[in-house]
Amino acid sequence: MRKDIQPSYQYIENCYQQENEQMQLSRKFADQLGLGGISVSHTEAHLMGFLVGLIKPKKVVEIGTLTGLSCQYFLQSLQQDGTIYTLEKSAEHIALATQALKPWIERGQCVVVPGDAKEELPKLSAQGPFDAIFIDGNKAAYKDYWIWAKNNIRSGGMILIDNVFLAGSVWGDMSKQKFSDKQIQTVKEMTSDVFASADFTASFVPTEEGLLIAVRK
Ligand SMILES: C[S@@+](CC[C@H](N)C(=O)[O-])C[C@H]1O[C@@H](n2cnc3c(N)ncnc32)[C@H](O)[C@@H]1O
Repeated sequence: MRKDIQPSYQYIENCYQQENEQMQLSRKFADQLGLGGISVSHTEAHLMGFLVGLIKPKKVVEIGTLTGLSCQYFLQSLQQDGTIYTLEKSAEHIALATQALKPWIERGQCVVVPGDAKEELPKLSAQGPFDAIFIDGNKAAYKDYWIWAKNNIRSGGMILIDNVFLAGSVWGDMSKQKFSDKQIQTVKEMTSDVFASADFTASFVPTEEGLLIAVRK
């Protein structure tokens, strides 16, 4: 049993099927980078894959690939002729993700987009509108990602945003992890805008990290 996991998450994960070999490869690569803790948990990934699957997605964007773990959950939910564009800035992460995502890249179902997401997203707009968009990149750019996402999601499409609690920093608890004032302010402003956007219905999923889901009316 992992020591760093809440008992409820452990129970949930025991009920689910184990992550497959390719997912375990993504986790192994993230651990090798010393970044295992920032891959989405099995519990959250399963929830996101399940929810996105309900809208039968053909076109998905992910911001922040790391080693391709969350991407694989979205790929499981993707329609046969669909495509996921996953954006990543780090060449080291891209090299590992490309190995883990190889079967889907070869089938044309997954495209890893290298570079800074803020610069690459406008170029992706031509492929939209998208059915689902997952935001999990640079926290200081969350407002820019959200603005792009709300302009590029189809009606009925789903935007999922991870880490919106910034390990408690958004309510002033800095004990677990230190985030910059810019990151905290950006995530709080983005969250306010999500709930103020009349053309979206939104809810927190109160996971440990804080997941925010907005669906375009
Ligand atoms: C939290 S991790 C993503 C985890 C991944 N979604 C998963 O659960 O398997 C964030 C990733 O975003 C990438 N990233 C950070 N800033 C970025 C930027 N400006 N543009 C694109 N990717 C960025 C990081 O290199 C890192 O791999």
